[in-house]
Amino acid sequence: MSTATTELATLNTTARGDHFTPGWDRQGNPPMWSEPKTSFVPYLWKSADAYRYLNESREVVPLELTERRNLILTNPAPGNIYPSVRTLVMAYQMVVPGDIARTHRHAPHAGRVILESEGAFTVVNGVRIDMKPGDILLTPGMHWHGHGHEGTEPAIWVDFLDIPLVQLLEPMYFEPYDDETEFQMWETITRDSPFVFPIEKTHGRLASAEIESPFHGRRIKFDTDLMPTIGLYAVQLRPGESTEKFRTTSNHQFVVIEGSGVAEIDGQEIPFERGDAFVAPAWKFRSLRSDDGAILVNISDEPLQQYCKYFREESAAEAHEDTRNKAYRVGA
Ligand SMILES: [Fe+2]
Repeated sequence: MSTATTELATLNTTARGDHFTPGWDRQGNPPMWSEPKTSFVPYLWKSADAYRYLNESREVVPLELTERRNLILTNPAPGNIYPSVRTLVMAYQMVVPGDIARTHRHAPHAGRVILESEGAFTVVNGVRIDMKPGDILLTPGMHWHGHGHEGTEPAIWVDFLDIPLVQLLEPMYFEPYDDETEFQMWETITRDSPFVFPIEKTHGRLASAEIESPFHGRRIKFDTDLMPTIGLYAVQLRPGESTEKFRTTSNHQFVVIEGSGVAEIDGQEIPFERGDAFVAPAWKFRSLRSDDGAILVNISDEPLQQYCKYFREESAAEAHEDTRNKAYRVGA
């Protein structure tokens, strides 16, 4: 070994000992790469499986042990222990008649897509909102919220939260309402609130919705100004409709609230039906189609990526163009 080589090896070792990583000796860990990549994978969670596990939990898991009867939709990416996609997480949750979920608040923004509910409600900052199947409820960060149930059958919904993003940025807070009062009672009962998108209004908007783009199809956007990290949309596939294959830098979660169809994500055919949830991680080509019609709720970090000016989307044809000459489509 030459003297220079020995000196370089000594320099590298000594610098690393003082927690400097020599830029000339990255050891296979480049900080940037030529295009988006993710270890997260497309995945489908079947509602029938979720309902079965939640029902079984009623027999064997006392609520005082769990606080929540929920099932977190953990992406099967190697080494992943929590998120559904990089920035977001979903969970099926069951509330049985008589249960209350204690009032609390937290930094992460959250919402829920209601699948089964007759008599279940959420109280957000003193406003009670009765939940119907197909509704979407918001509980923006640091808003007090708790759930109750005055009906006779279990209520089931899919929660969505930006917890993985908050874990990354680290401004995490969680607070119970108070030690004396476990549940914040309501001052008003309404379905006319920025915290709820009732299914009947979603149907009305979709009925007159135009095709937004070949990639997104008939998509409407819900107002999430109170929780700007989360983009929230409803996508309708009318019978026989399909969307064009494309890829986007944003990460997407879907919950099927009506009908059935097929998603093709990264070459995988994913047949979905009402109640199912699936994910399309960043930069995986995807398209949707339905023979009989479907409505999906789509939760993503698209507006956040647009705000950051990271957002890109492109068709399969555009993917083959010379990168240096490519006119990236950056969305609205
Ligand atoms: Fe919560």
